Amino acid sequence: MKIEGHATRSIWLEPDGWSVGIFDQRHLPWEVRRMRLIRMEDAAEAIADMATRGAPLIGAVAAYGLALALREDPSDAGLETAFATLLRTRPTAVNLRWALDRVRAAVLPLAPAERATAAYACAAAICDEDVAVNRAIGEAALPLIEEMARRKGGAVNVMTHCNPGWLATVDWGTATAPLYLAHDRGIPLHVWVDETRPRNQGALTAFELASHGVPHSFVTDNAGGLLMQRGEVDMVIVGTDRVTANGDVCNKIGTYLKALAAAAHGVPFYVALPSSTFDPDTADGASVPIEERSEEEVRFLKGPDEEGIMRRVATVGSPARNPAFDITPAALVSGYLTEAGVMASPQQLSEMLRK
Ligand code: MRU
Repeated sequence: MKIEGHATRSIWLEPDGWSVGIFDQRHLPWEVRRMRLIRMEDAAEAIADMATRGAPLIGAVAAYGLALALREDPSDAGLETAFATLLRTRPTAVNLRWALDRVRAAVLPLAPAERATAAYACAAAICDEDVAVNRAIGEAALPLIEEMARRKGGAVNVMTHCNPGWLATVDWGTATAPLYLAHDRGIPLHVWVDETRPRNQGALTAFELASHGVPHSFVTDNAGGLLMQRGEVDMVIVGTDRVTANGDVCNKIGTYLKALAAAAHGVPFYVALPSSTFDPDTADGASVPIEERSEEEVRFLKGPDEEGIMRRVATVGSPARNPAFDITPAALVSGYLTEAGVMASPQQLSEMLRK
């Protein structure tokens, strides 16, 4: 996808061939800053502090984090310490463990001297596959948008929540892949972009869509009900951080309310996921660890003014709660958009993705 007019991925190997480049998303969409990860600890900190974020990208950064660790200490003990450090960074997105498990399984049988090279190869493969998988999600879901455009005879209004875009993956995004494809193929489209308080990941989605020229409107999180009631939303497509064995969907806080409103107004509610986000080992949404972030994120707003990036007080002196994700029950999901096709039920999803 494009940033500053140039096609790029959200993670890359630097020209030295071993350090890792990412965008520092704490400064987006106001300023494009890149950062270089030199040690495993840099990768862990970038994930924990949300310099990098989004389930698939967290997995990719963690995979490279293990590679960076193995450059310094390729012993079994070094591998296990790095694995545990990276796994502790964020609790909810299952892609983190998926990627770490995959790199560990690839390097463990090897002699220590061979491990770093193998870890880099595995991390690169995870990134390349993520790009292909997201594109496949887009191709699989595109007919839903095409069909809606045909039926309506006008622009399809898609609502999305959080940033399920290329900044949350290696490229394309999950929920945004069909949107980019639809736009590129001339299907009239307009995207309602939820702000997604408190971290405002919707601003990242809006930034992406603007960079690619996709018509969109940035709306407050509470606007969705009214827009659906008025028939101004044709479908909702969200990403996810974990889909459990029974099809429950864990995604950014506020997703569940959108699903409830969509059900009340007969608006299809789709969830886009790569197979790396399916967690067959967790029975249902109630068992997913929901990240609780700092009260500060709720009490303060962050954004630029004439003097630079500043924090403005939203509320003073009140205790806050900040659950970062919620659970949408499988019953509210109209379909799962995957690289293997559109799955109508959790059973179908589970059969296809376990293969
Ligand atoms: O807290 P974040 O910004 O990492 O949360 C990101 C989301 O919730 C996305 O919607 C999710 O990762 C799926 S999109 C690829």
